[in-house]
Amino acid sequence: MANSNLTEAKRAKNDEFYTQYHDIEKEITAYIEYNPDVFRGKTVLLPCDDPEWSNFTRFFAQNFDRLGLKKLISTSYAANSKKYKGGYQPSLFEVNDPQYDAYKTKKHGKIFILDHDKSGDGHIDVDDLEWHYLDGDGDFKSDEIRKLRDEADMIITNPPFSLFREFLAWLIEADKQFVIIGNMNAITYKEVFPLIKDNKLWLGATGNGNDMVFGVPKGAEVAESDRQKAARMGYVGDFTRLGNSCWFTTLDHGKRHHPIVLMSMEENLKYSKHKELKGKESYDQYDNYDAIEVPFTDAIPSDYDGVMGVPISFLDKYSPDQFDIMGMCENEDLYKLKTKVYTTAECKQAYFAKFEKKGTYDLNASGVVFRGGLLEKVYQRVLIKHKRPTK
Ligand SMILES: C[S@@+](CC[C@H](N)C(=O)[O-])C[C@H]1O[C@@H](n2cnc3c(N)ncnc32)[C@H](O)[C@@H]1O
Repeated sequence: MANSNLTEAKRAKNDEFYTQYHDIEKEITAYIEYNPDVFRGKTVLLPCDDPEWSNFTRFFAQNFDRLGLKKLISTSYAANSKKYKGGYQPSLFEVNDPQYDAYKTKKHGKIFILDHDKSGDGHIDVDDLEWHYLDGDGDFKSDEIRKLRDEADMIITNPPFSLFREFLAWLIEADKQFVIIGNMNAITYKEVFPLIKDNKLWLGATGNGNDMVFGVPKGAEVAESDRQKAARMGYVGDFTRLGNSCWFTTLDHGKRHHPIVLMSMEENLKYSKHKELKGKESYDQYDNYDAIEVPFTDAIPSDYDGVMGVPISFLDKYSPDQFDIMGMCENEDLYKLKTKVYTTAECKQAYFAKFEKKGTYDLNASGVVFRGGLLEKVYQRVLIKHKRPTK
C-alpha cells in the first residue's frame, strides 16, 4: 500500500512537468521547414496548458502572425483538480485582472483565446490574448474542452504523463492532426503501435532518445540525479530531466524522408563496429519468427529482403520511403507473424537450461534466438522489411 501510494505520488508529480521553450521551437521549426504553410489558416488548441506560463502558449502567441494562424486557443486545468497540489500560485497577471476571483481560480480552468489585434499595434501577439474562466475545471475529457477540440484543426501539447493513453484516444477519436510529447515506451502500447505501423502516427523530428529537460513546480521533489543532470545541461533550480521522452505527431517532417545509410550484410559481418556482429558467419535467425535478429539500427543489412527484428529506437530513424513495418514481437497476436508458440514445459525447460534453477522463461513474449545451445529472449523488437533492398 505504502509503495503504491509512493508510485501514485510520483506519477502525480510527473504530470506537472513543463516543456522548455526551445524544445517547442526546435520541433515546430522542423514542421515549418518541411512545409512553410503547415499552420496557415489553422485553429490550434493547446489543452493541458497553463496559458500564463506555458511555453506552448508563449511560442504560438509570439509566432501567431509568422505561422499564419487563424486562431489560438489555450486552456488550463483547475488547481484543485490537479493530482499534484504543490507549488500552485495564481500569477500577478491574473490577480491584477478585474476578473480575478479567488474561488474560481482554484475550481475552474481558464481559457485564453487569440484571434485578432486587440491592442491595435498592427500585430497579433501575446498582448492580444483574452482570457476568462471556463465553466468547468478544464478536464480535456469534459464536454466543454471536447467542443474546443472539435473546433480545432490541430492539437499541440505535452499532456499529463499518467493519462497519455486516454489523451491519445481522445485525439484519435476526433481525427485531428496533433503534436504531443510522450514517453518512448508508449510505442509498444497496443493502442499506439498499430497507428505507427500504418503510418498514421510517427515520432517527431527532434529530441527523440535524448535527455529532455522540463520545468517542475516550485519546490517539487525530483530525483536528485535528474536535477543534477538538468543542472549540468544548464538548467539550475526547478528543473528535471527525462531520458525517454519523445514527440509523437501526425505532421510530416523532413527527417522522416531521410533514408538511413547502411552496409550490406557481408560488409556488416566483416566491418561492423559491434562486436556482436563483427566476425560472425551470419545474423541470428529467430526460432519463433521467420526473421533475422538485428540488434542495432545501424547494423540493418541494406541487401536483406526478408523480415528483420530491430530495436524500437529504430523508429527515431524510420523512413516510410525506405521500410515497411510488419509488426512487433510483443504484439504478435495483432499480426500473426509468430511461427512457433512454446508450451509451458518448453518455457520451464529453457529457464532451467539457462539459469540452472526452476522457473518459467516466457518465450512467447518476445523474439527468441538459439545462442550457445540455449534459447535466449531478445529485447523488444519491431519487425521491418526493406521496401527495396539494395546492394
Ligand atoms: C506534463 S504537464 C505539461 C504542461 C504543459 N503542457 C507544458 O508542456 O508545459 C500536463 C498538464 O496537464 C494538466 N492535467 C492533468 N490532468 C488533466 C486533465 N484531465 N485535463 C486537462 N489537463 C490536465 C496538469 O495539471 C499539467 O499542468
